[in-house]
Amino acid sequence: MELLNVYSLYPIEPVRGCGSYVYTADGEEYLDLYGGHAVISIGHAHPTYVTALQEQVARLGFYSNSVENSLQEQLAERLGAASGYDDYRLFLCNSGAEANENALKIASFQTGRERVLAFRKAFHGRTSGAVVATDNPKIIAPYNRTDKVDFVALNDLEAVREHLRTEQYAAVLIEGIQGVAGIHLPSDEFLRELRTLCTETGTQLILDEIQSGYGRSGRFFAHQYSGIRPDLVTMAKGMGNGFPIGGVLVAPHFEAWPGMLGTTFGGNHLACAAASAVLDVMREEQLVANAAEVGSYLLEELRQIPQLKDVRGRGLMIGMEIEGSASELRKRLLFEEHIFTGGAGVNTVRLLPALGLKKEQADRFITALKKLL
Ligand SMILES: Cc1ncc(COP(=O)(O)O)c(C=O)c1O
Repeated sequence: MELLNVYSLYPIEPVRGCGSYVYTADGEEYLDLYGGHAVISIGHAHPTYVTALQEQVARLGFYSNSVENSLQEQLAERLGAASGYDDYRLFLCNSGAEANENALKIASFQTGRERVLAFRKAFHGRTSGAVVATDNPKIIAPYNRTDKVDFVALNDLEAVREHLRTEQYAAVLIEGIQGVAGIHLPSDEFLRELRTLCTETGTQLILDEIQSGYGRSGRFFAHQYSGIRPDLVTMAKGMGNGFPIGGVLVAPHFEAWPGMLGTTFGGNHLACAAASAVLDVMREEQLVANAAEVGSYLLEELRQIPQLKDVRGRGLMIGMEIEGSASELRKRLLFEEHIFTGGAGVNTVRLLPALGLKKEQADRFITALKKLL
């Protein structure tokens, strides 16, 4: 049997990882500034994480959500403390799209409304509710099409005001930092005004922190720079450092009842063990502070490179816009300099490394980049 051909692949296979490095079978080392698409938060094969998973799988790998699971409660407690949202409740699922899907349902159940306001160039996932709030017609199948979602430009407060004034929306869905679009930030002021407009109109504000969350921006969630508190926050990627897990933080005012939401795999024992180990390591190694510090350093250094058209981002979520083809530059970084990076559109290279990236590793990238530019 062949694999369904839906990915463009680099002819390279990492088989082992350690911290911010991955290795091929013949022992070639690569600096990983992509983190497997923003997923690797605490670094590859972190010993605390490996032990937690090994011990848990040897004890109990899975049981269903029809019985008590104290690992979920432990995870919720750790996450509340790490994020500053200990008064919210946690719903666990398996991926980013699924987290958004559930957040949209929660908002719609609560308000009795069906429309959603989202932002141009947004990416929220590929499942039916998430994909129609994603501004990319190429990934929306005819089956998914709906007219229930409106799009406005990021940071266009007037457009948001006009929509919320004339239509009833269940939710506004916005990324903490737009990732797939090429690292575009909602301004702090925009988020504050958006919060006010949502409160005034009874619209639930959903912050998609799937890529920008879990410390990547130098705060636990990127929206925390603005000081707002959304009604729902979605997360995945860095949450499990590679073990599939997603979650929704749900503000105290939402009603919930048995049967309202559900999942077979969400919050399973192994996923909780992985996610709790991630939060333990983040706390012990102060990875959010490291992301802020090394990220600021990288941003400053990159902004001094004249060949870069624009450098955007916060913490270790960085987009570099170049004149030519980003995919050509990424290929050269990978094959000539052994550095993995991410892409976004035609001209932007994205950096999404593990949060423990060291300054020397950032320097190695800057030297390689200058050489190639
Ligand atoms: C902001 C954002 N939301 C949602 C998703 C979808 O996550 P998943 O691929 O885990 O479904 C992604 C994935 O890249 C993302 O970047």
